Amino acid sequence: MNDIFEKIKANRGPIGMHAKESHGYFTFPKLEGDIAPHMIFRGRKRLNWSLNNYLGLANHPEVRKADADAAAQFGLAMPMGARMMSGNSDLYEQLEKGLSQLVQKEETILCNFGYQAMVSAIDCLVDRHDVIVYDGESHACILDGVRLHMGKRYVFKHNDIADCEKQLERATKLAEETGGAILLITEGVFGMRGDQGKLKEIVELKKKFKFRLFVDDAHGLGTLGKTGAGTGEEQGCQDGIDVYFGTFAKSFALIGGFISSEAQVVEYLRYNMRSQIFAKSLPLPLVAGALKRLELIRTQPQLKDKLWEVTSALQSGLKKAGFEIGDTNSCVTPVYMNGSIPEATNLIVDLRENFNVFCSMVVYPVVPKGMIILRLIPTAVHTLEDVNYTIDAFSKIVDKLKSGQYMADKIAEIK
Ligand SMILES: Cc1ncc(COP(=O)(O)O)c(C=O)c1O
Repeated sequence: MNDIFEKIKANRGPIGMHAKESHGYFTFPKLEGDIAPHMIFRGRKRLNWSLNNYLGLANHPEVRKADADAAAQFGLAMPMGARMMSGNSDLYEQLEKGLSQLVQKEETILCNFGYQAMVSAIDCLVDRHDVIVYDGESHACILDGVRLHMGKRYVFKHNDIADCEKQLERATKLAEETGGAILLITEGVFGMRGDQGKLKEIVELKKKFKFRLFVDDAHGLGTLGKTGAGTGEEQGCQDGIDVYFGTFAKSFALIGGFISSEAQVVEYLRYNMRSQIFAKSLPLPLVAGALKRLELIRTQPQLKDKLWEVTSALQSGLKKAGFEIGDTNSCVTPVYMNGSIPEATNLIVDLRENFNVFCSMVVYPVVPKGMIILRLIPTAVHTLEDVNYTIDAFSKIVDKLKSGQYMADKIAEIK
């Protein structure tokens, strides 16, 4: 018989197994100073492309003031307890109303964390007779929600509508036998590759199949659609989304999340969603802070315009310089390169230490062996100068990669 501690000491997990060499640099890096395109990493200023601060709200003066004022007014403890029992307030209801208007749904439930909201809403919406159909490259919070499901689930190949239809056929057959219903779950924007979920085509499938569509629009909220209502608005099918999930962790530059839908569905979630009933609700300064961000998103469309100006310059500049950025049609900008993991780590060290550019790197096992993705997240507070500098730096490092210069042992010592 094994011992839990012995087991985890022997197998530290796919990323944890590299912790000794990577902690503090490739993993758990410390970015210091105000949240901005230029931040301090290991004592030096770096041009930073790794934060989902899409609209630049994290350090917006009005946001900072609203956050500070609300913290002074309420303190961080308020309210105590779960909302259902002792923690409700007018501010929650005000924010929910505003969010419903933003995403064009009847009602909204505010949630204390985005991840838990997704997991818990999936758990809450289905029972063991129901069938879930979901995209194979869904975010971990969707996969964890699906893991809680006691009934059947069918996965379709990422954004493959023919396969989605096939899985809906299987799900329909089963649901007819069990007397259950079908919940289809996908994302508005897939956060690694930046491709939008094919929501319009999925909504079209409602003509042929009976199902409800639940969309995780973490990266679409605030960045896509004429009013920032997200991917459904962008594709002209917001009405076809039955349950909409948004997080505050990205364009809102905060923490928390929400789910919007028909009033009766949201009421059901309020009274049945375990992660909200059995957990303390969001502190009021966060709610007041979210209201300020919502106001800015609604009244300052120039923030989204600026985000897209930077995004377009970055994506078209990278393509012009010969880089492969795949099929992104969102702000998420992946740059695909070929190389081994040691080459990828040498390249990142060179990029950070000699060019002072900080971005995230994705390698095997997240992507196939031999593939390197450098993932850039443009924001409204980056400048075109930042864009040009980065493309130039990338051109230099990719030349080195191609000529094998990163194959040697560490090219730059990490002090
Ligand atoms: C697609 C997607 N869904 C859900 C989440 C979880 O949201 P949160 O960070 O608010 O818990 C994230 C990450 O933030 C995400 O990228």
